[in-house]
Amino acid sequence: MAAKSTFALIAVAVLAVGGYAYLNTSTPGMTPEEPLKDAQYGEPMAKVIVPELTGRAVIGEAAFNAKCAVCHGQNAAGQEGIAPPLIHKFYRPGHHGEEAFQRAAKGGVISHHWTFGNMPPIEGVTPGDVKAIVAYIRVLQQANGIN
Ligand code: HEC
Repeated sequence: MAAKSTFALIAVAVLAVGGYAYLNTSTPGMTPEEPLKDAQYGEPMAKVIVPELTGRAVIGEAAFNAKCAVCHGQNAAGQEGIAPPLIHKFYRPGHHGEEAFQRAAKGGVISHHWTFGNMPPIEGVTPGDVKAIVAYIRVLQQANGIN
């Protein structure tokens, strides 16, 4: 009896591992020669529609490009393996208000939504810069259906 259930367990394990490997190799970009991670490292994570920017959003775009885009990517679309898109429902106004952006820039962020690691405090950004960055992010969010 014990031997039978051990066999059953092994069979399940083999099926599970085999099935996983099969799914992995049958997904484009997941073959051993072309691992998904390397292929997509640094790639944008979101498709972002960029509307015409005016006023404070223009200033925010410049500040964002200078201080945030290195990680969060062009148009805040995120970068695979580096940092998340801010054009994402997680960061909608009702969930991450301006205060969350001010706190993130000043004190950094302990990773909690993603697996990219922590965000460090960002040097040389004033609260005014962050206010403009938030204006820019909100315009992009709205243009992409995130309210
Ligand atoms: C060195 C890379 C890096 C830079 C530069 C960076 N960030 Fe981040 N940021 C991250 C990562 C990684 C996360 C995701 C943390 C997590 O897993 O929740 C994050 C998360 C955030 C969040 C979410 C905060 C929360 O409460 O969940 C905000 C807002 C944010 N960043 C704004 C900014 C702004 C604004 C700038 C520029 C002033 C900036 N980031 C620059 C890496 C970076």
